[in-house]
Amino acid sequence: MDKSAVHHPQLPLKTRISLFLLSAVTNATMRPDGTVNRRLFSTLTYLLKVPPSFSHGVTTSDVPVDPSRGLWFRLFVPRHSDQKLPVLVFFHGGGFVYLSPDFKAYDDVCRRFARAIPAVVVSVNYRLAPEHPYPAQYDDGCEVLRFLEAERGRILPEKADLSRCFVAGDSAGGNLAHHVALRAEPGELRVLGVVAIQPFFGGEQVRKSEIELEGVDVVVNSARTQFMWKAFMPRADRDHEVINVCGPNAVDMSNIRFPATMVVVAGFDSLKDWQMSYYNWLIESGKEAYLINYPNMFHAFYIFPELPESTLLVSEVKNFIHKHSS
Ligand SMILES: *[C@@H]1O[C@H](CO)[C@@H](O)[C@H](O)[C@H]1NC(C)=O
Repeated sequence: MDKSAVHHPQLPLKTRISLFLLSAVTNATMRPDGTVNRRLFSTLTYLLKVPPSFSHGVTTSDVPVDPSRGLWFRLFVPRHSDQKLPVLVFFHGGGFVYLSPDFKAYDDVCRRFARAIPAVVVSVNYRLAPEHPYPAQYDDGCEVLRFLEAERGRILPEKADLSRCFVAGDSAGGNLAHHVALRAEPGELRVLGVVAIQPFFGGEQVRKSEIELEGVDVVVNSARTQFMWKAFMPRADRDHEVINVCGPNAVDMSNIRFPATMVVVAGFDSLKDWQMSYYNWLIESGKEAYLINYPNMFHAFYIFPELPESTLLVSEVKNFIHKHSS
């Protein structure tokens, strides 16, 4: 397909400015040698972070899990709800390399989930690559589940119901949600569903959506994905089973119990062909999976609350969690 035939998404000016700044900061801090200029990144994003607070009916606090490796989570508890609530364990995006739960954009998203579902939300500050390559992020995710189960009486409010747990994430966080659900040991904490929002998967092959949307997708491009995968897994190719989940080295899922999964894709996301393959693979493996498609949206659209699709997604997640909570 001729690239000129690909339209650009129609976005509000505010969103376009945010995307431009995000792109500029990412470009300025990715070093050619594969490392990240953390100092510059912290300086440039200093004003984008927020401390724990009470607002919009949700109280937040930061809970240490393992200070020796900087593992903690931000806990979101909706105040006006006395019923038992499901627990949503959330992994932010950023290519395994960037961001954290205290960024305002992620604080806002988790607060909206907590209030709308309503649910107790646990937004995980997992370690980042390249300083901490694979499997540090998966280890941290699993450690948080173990911690929640072991420390529930001390850490979680009484209304948190760990027998109704969901794991969610966007981009790299969507990849993490899948793998943490796969590794979760059944106990009192039970994972009933996975919400994979535009999950970050890839492979050695270049997909049609990556070619067609190169330069159109302002968040994902080939230089960035290459940088992220190299940071995450310096010594393996991209057909590794955790990157190309349904590729040549895929785990045989047919005999593995895996919870119901909601996969979110968008028309202007250059990773959409990988995400569609993920969805099809779940279905072919006999899993319960749902596809939600936003044809006019782009990678990471839902962290921009000014977009109507962002609100739609929050209600889709709410419906999914309600449907799978019994
Ligand atoms: C960031 O770098 C990409 C190429 O890797 C380029 O296409 C894009 O325009 C740059 N963005 C900004 C805001 O400088």
